Amino acid sequence: MNRIVAVAMLCLISLPAALWAGSSSPSLPKSYHSWQKSGRKVVTDKSSLFYGIHYIYADKKAMNGYKAGNRFAEGSSIIIEHFNIKDGSGSPTEGSKNMVVLMRKDKRMKTTGGWLFAGYGADGAPSGLDPVSTCFGCHQKDAAKKDYVISTINDFKK
Ligand code: HEC
Repeated sequence: MNRIVAVAMLCLISLPAALWAGSSSPSLPKSYHSWQKSGRKVVTDKSSLFYGIHYIYADKKAMNGYKAGNRFAEGSSIIIEHFNIKDGSGSPTEGSKNMVVLMRKDKRMKTTGGWLFAGYGADGAPSGLDPVSTCFGCHQKDAAKKDYVISTINDFKK
């Protein structure tokens, strides 16, 4: 009997923890490939963190935010998919996917400018990066006046 009570207690304790973990690193939205997609962006400088080829995806709310000069409504979501560059001569071509990053406007995220930042591996599993130390610094430095979003509507004009 005691064991059953103990198990029940454990469930009660771990459930909120699981929900909390879920809200701090949400799973990737399944439909993002149907969002507005940017032009192809190639960074050939090997010393850059963004070395490779990437595409930005923005949902409807985020597109409205870009159109308003980077003023985003709660819930706006933006994703970048990064790919390696395939070895070989000629123009750079896409190799394997290497990471995915997400920003979603969420007013609870006060320490990161009202945005949730999350990183994922190529398989879509959360990489557990700390948003404050890993992500926010650059976005704050480069885009404090653009709602912390570095890209602009011009990136979606192909
Ligand atoms: C070294 C600086 C740097 C760091 C660190 C960084 N970013 Fe960025 N991020 C950028 C730049 C530069 C762009 C614009 C890319 C473009 O325009 O193609 C960007 C763009 C983005 C975008 C598309 C929206 C926007 O702001 O243009 C998302 C989403 C994003 N980053 C998420 C993240 C996440 C999540 C992390 C942490 C895991 C992170 N970033 C860490 C520099 C950085």
